[in-house]
Amino acid sequence: MTKIKACLFDLDGVIVDTAKYHYLAWRRLAKELGFDFTEEHNERLKGISRMDSLEILLEVGGLTLDENVKVKLAEKKNNWYCEYIAKMTPDEILPGTKEFLELLRGNKIKIALGSASKNSMSILTNVGLVNHFDAIVDGNNITHAKPDPQVFLLGAKELGVAPEECVVFEDARAGIEAAINAGMYSVGIGDPKILNKANIVVSSLKEMTLEKLNSQIYCKGA
Ligand code: BG6
Ligand code: MG
Repeated sequence: MTKIKACLFDLDGVIVDTAKYHYLAWRRLAKELGFDFTEEHNERLKGISRMDSLEILLEVGGLTLDENVKVKLAEKKNNWYCEYIAKMTPDEILPGTKEFLELLRGNKIKIALGSASKNSMSILTNVGLVNHFDAIVDGNNITHAKPDPQVFLLGAKELGVAPEECVVFEDARAGIEAAINAGMYSVGIGDPKILNKANIVVSSLKEMTLEKLNSQIYCKGA
């Protein structure tokens, strides 16, 4: 039986609840463009890169725009988003996260970030978690977005751990698919209906234990 040697964490919606700030900024942009953008629409953006998210938003609004206009709109959304994250504090770390990261470190399990976001360093700095990670791979280091496995494979490589010894923690369907495509185990954080491809699903990292990491995952097999 392989032992889990590393855990790779998505950022938005797993470590911190920035999904709500992404939503606020996208909804504001949609409003400015003259249409509604619901939370249900927003679910499709989770784990997806900034430009791909914009494409989905424009599809919802039935708009076709030139590339240069799209770049400006994505920049506008990101500026609003950055205003929200600039105000983040350690209080916004999701329940159980810090404790679980410390439990992993105490048990010599390596930790990496695997996020599509290009803002991950500002977020981790603002909430005081940069030093909890052995490797940080984010939207600045990758060319292929989730469900492509690149972000997680790069994280495992930086940690010097084989994919089959890794567990990915994700709140997005695209992220769970990326973990599967990487040949890694996965823990879904959130709605089991959305994350049904994960090995196990928990409502937050508060529910995670070393026992779950090392036994439940094997029970289901991957
Ligand atoms: C992911 C989020 O983590 O990062 C997506 O789930 C987001 O919603 C993506 O679009 C890119 O983030 P950013 O911060 O680079 O715009
Ligand atoms: Mg996420």
